[in-house]
Amino acid sequence: MKINYLNTAYFCFALVSFVMILGCEPEVQVKQARIVQNFNKDWKFKLGDHPEAINHSVDLSDWRSLELPHDWSIEGEFDESHPTKPEGGALPAGIGWYQKSFEIPADWNERKVFISFDGVYRNSEVWINGNYLGIRPFGYISFQYDLTPYLKFGQENSIAVKVDNSPQPNSRWYTGSGIYRNVKLIATNTVYVDHWGTFVTTPVVSEKTAEVDLAIVLKNEAADLDQIKVVSSIVNADNQPVETKEQLLKLAGQKNVNVKMNFSLESPKLWSPERPNMYSIQTKIYQGSRLLDTYETPLGIRKFRFDAQEGFFLNGEHMKLYGVCLHHDLGALGAAINIHAIERRLRILKEMGVNAIRTAHNPPSPELLQLTDRMGFIVQDEAFDVWKKKKVEYDYHLNWDQWHERDLSDMILRDRNHPSIMMWSIGNEIREQFDSTGIAMTKELVALVKELDTTRPVTIALTENIPEKNYIYQSGVLDVLGFNYKHEAYKDFPERFKGEKVLSSESISGLMTRGHYDMPSDSLMYWPPSHKGEFDGNEDLTVSAYDHISAYWGSTHEQTWKEVKRLDFMAGMFVWTGFDYLGEPIPYPYPARSSYFGIIDLAGFPKDIYYMYQSEWTKEDVLHIFPHWNWSKGAMVDVWAYYNNADEVELFLNGKSLGIKSKQGDDLHISWKVPFEPGKLKAVSRKDGEIVLQREIVTAAAPAKIELIGDKEAVKADGNDLIFVTVNIQDDNGVLAPRADNLVKFDISGGGKIVGVDNGYQASLEPFKANQRKAFNGKCLVIIQSNYKNEPITLKASSEGLTSETLTITIAK
Ligand code: GAL
Repeated sequence: MKINYLNTAYFCFALVSFVMILGCEPEVQVKQARIVQNFNKDWKFKLGDHPEAINHSVDLSDWRSLELPHDWSIEGEFDESHPTKPEGGALPAGIGWYQKSFEIPADWNERKVFISFDGVYRNSEVWINGNYLGIRPFGYISFQYDLTPYLKFGQENSIAVKVDNSPQPNSRWYTGSGIYRNVKLIATNTVYVDHWGTFVTTPVVSEKTAEVDLAIVLKNEAADLDQIKVVSSIVNADNQPVETKEQLLKLAGQKNVNVKMNFSLESPKLWSPERPNMYSIQTKIYQGSRLLDTYETPLGIRKFRFDAQEGFFLNGEHMKLYGVCLHHDLGALGAAINIHAIERRLRILKEMGVNAIRTAHNPPSPELLQLTDRMGFIVQDEAFDVWKKKKVEYDYHLNWDQWHERDLSDMILRDRNHPSIMMWSIGNEIREQFDSTGIAMTKELVALVKELDTTRPVTIALTENIPEKNYIYQSGVLDVLGFNYKHEAYKDFPERFKGEKVLSSESISGLMTRGHYDMPSDSLMYWPPSHKGEFDGNEDLTVSAYDHISAYWGSTHEQTWKEVKRLDFMAGMFVWTGFDYLGEPIPYPYPARSSYFGIIDLAGFPKDIYYMYQSEWTKEDVLHIFPHWNWSKGAMVDVWAYYNNADEVELFLNGKSLGIKSKQGDDLHISWKVPFEPGKLKAVSRKDGEIVLQREIVTAAAPAKIELIGDKEAVKADGNDLIFVTVNIQDDNGVLAPRADNLVKFDISGGGKIVGVDNGYQASLEPFKANQRKAFNGKCLVIIQSNYKNEPITLKASSEGLTSETLTITIAK
């Protein structure tokens, strides 16, 4: 195909027309010779099995129109009888079909055209114009198909996707169902950089200089080509090229060629969680002056190492990993990914002091990794929750033999350019650790990873910490050992695992419901106390939010953090979990349907323990006192305070001092027992006699009004941007009513729609897709998405007996 500037101009015009035919916003990103098109719009969907949909001409008039990403489970009703069970979120699964008709411009007929899926849960099968493209059972893996041989250029084409999440249970947590991540259409020339076709490494890194190596796999699906020029530029955060390299090559027809380029950078800006400096490498492929392809590779320059005595170092400096485990669901949005929702979560975690994320227990969305690069989080990228031995009936063990090699390799190929990733985890609590087959399997998996990346350690999350009993450990090929739970044994690890680098890959599993407090707070409890044990839970399926109850295999937050903090050789820890997630509602039966483990609830509201970590993991001044101040007269109330950067805290009730306290030894909080009387409880932290912070909690009168707080003031009218609105139920004086459960109804008009509501209560059976929500312990949440209209959004919240409130959100320029 000949391209000259005129052709390119015509091509752009054709492309814009194509987009206009589809009746959408200009969602096409023209990057010179490569076109990457958002392919999320205008899909048809129907639940059930509809194999007829592979035919273009089938009548879809009773199919629903929707935009991806889409998770049909989250739209369903909770029911104990769903085969997902409460462990899987008690929401429906089943089979669903998607179909999309689209026109391909006639002048693409010499192009290569691919469709790329970031993730489909699960067992996706894809057809283009009736031709079968393939199956991908694993619901968390990204994949792409070559559509070229089957396309009708200048005509309508149709793509059909079957999603089969009906074999249940297939997971220990909520998965969602459907095409729940982004889909793109990619058009290239016949000479192009392969899918996931670059690999960047930084073999030498210092403040003074960095060496950067780029490997490129170039594909030639045309005849022999002379004089191909590859030009790659390292571009800094201001979009300025700082170093450019060129190479001339000959390309044999129908062959791939591996290109290697090396760069040296003076005074590179290093990447770290505090300063996540990013570069990118822009690669251009020319034939003479014809631009054939462009490709971008993210680049972050950093060096790190794990150490058996001292833990972890980044860019030569010692650092502890302050991590949390995260499942992929986004609460009320289900599994349907949205970058703004992930960004909000990461922002909340960043403010808590988190610097590391473990993607429990599967490859994350590409957007999570874009954000961890950009916002500064170190990532442990995890592949599997099971190998060949199952945890539940229909899980990935059924696909293991046929797919593990491909899925693991694809994860590494997709993710290895992200500087934020500093560990590959080949599994979580894999049952083969107890079985001699674990030795050979571990060797095989580690070798697979090392074939594709030797710059990062391979780790795994183990539970068995007796070396003789752990066959995965005995493989001897792991670079870093991750251990889940059993913090009492950490101190023995240098003896037990001589010379090994170790971290706490998962810990605590504390149980808490935001805003709920049971006393006495110093009674430590396991709920349930053992595998079979009974426990006295709460009628309303809440768990106290003092840090005193955990699963029997776990600990309080303070117990494990004290150990990790004290033991230098522990590289860090990953708390189970940052956020509550759907499914796994330990310790309660249905109607509990989401987890109690989060430091932050499902709606994104921090529980009190958030501030313990903030006081330990950040340098910001922290003073947090709890519980609320609405108790019956005379009740003895346990008042806790988390604080830092101060010598002491003095507590006052209605102006009267209740004494000064300081943390002693390795204490992480202080507490008082206070006979309740209504009024104002005030805490003052002081350093060297100077006040650092003051905090008050006040007795609330009856609920009287609604407060609405958006997490931003303006949204983009791109149909994708989100605003999270916190709804607080207050008394007349603006004090949060800490037990309020008023039903709040929402009316929305203008440029937004409600895409989810929640209140963080783990046993609520109210739907997430609704225009109303009961408050829980004084709060609920509305998630609004822009709807393409360029109009301010008006959200009205009303509730019987309360003064209504209206929030206006403007459209960002
Ligand atoms: C761990 C497991 C997690 C989660 C957690 C709950 O053993 O790795 O996936 O189930 O327990 O406490």
